[in-house]
Amino acid sequence: MSRARPCEGVPARVAWAVDLLDPQPADRLLEVGGAPGVAAALICERLTTGHLVAVERSATGLRRIADRNAEHVESGRLVLRGCALADLDEPADSIDVAFAVNVNVFWTSTPERELSVLRHLLVSGGRWPSSTGPTSPRAPTCGPGSWTRWPRRCRRPGSP
Ligand SMILES: C[S@@+](CC[C@H](N)C(=O)[O-])C[C@H]1O[C@@H](n2cnc3c(N)ncnc32)[C@H](O)[C@@H]1O
Repeated sequence: MSRARPCEGVPARVAWAVDLLDPQPADRLLEVGGAPGVAAALICERLTTGHLVAVERSATGLRRIADRNAEHVESGRLVLRGCALADLDEPADSIDVAFAVNVNVFWTSTPERELSVLRHLLVSGGRWPSSTGPTSPRAPTCGPGSWTRWPRRCRRPGSP
């Protein structure tokens, strides 16, 4: 597993999450709620034939992802979608790995529509690791202990 390059401005939780994801050069990935585009930058530099779709509902957030990753948008490795995950319209079975870091729709609501979109997008056997944030102000800010859920590999959401 190659590790994310430590670099200024990369939150430890994001570097940790990307290391755990271990994106491969041909992977087709989806990031939900990725502003300001730090994970996208770390991932896109590892991709060759693969690509990352970034879905971000905030227009400001989407602009920040685009600004930080202009070269990857230009090369086609990063595809931007300005909408909520629930409204994302992408082809079925077009994503190998979908992920979200600290995106509260997955614990402040019943995300039925969101999970149904993920089920539609993910290939059979695709991965859906989703991390949730520190559970208390005293929790560490990064590392496995601070996240309540990050399955390394899982079935499609909703499948038995
Ligand atoms: C707390 S921030 C986390 C950003 C980044 N993942 C990180 O860990 O630094 C949550 C982001 O998710 C976006 N977001 C929240 N719900 C969303 C949804 N349903 N679809 C797409 N983006 C969403 C927000 O606009 C925001 O940019």
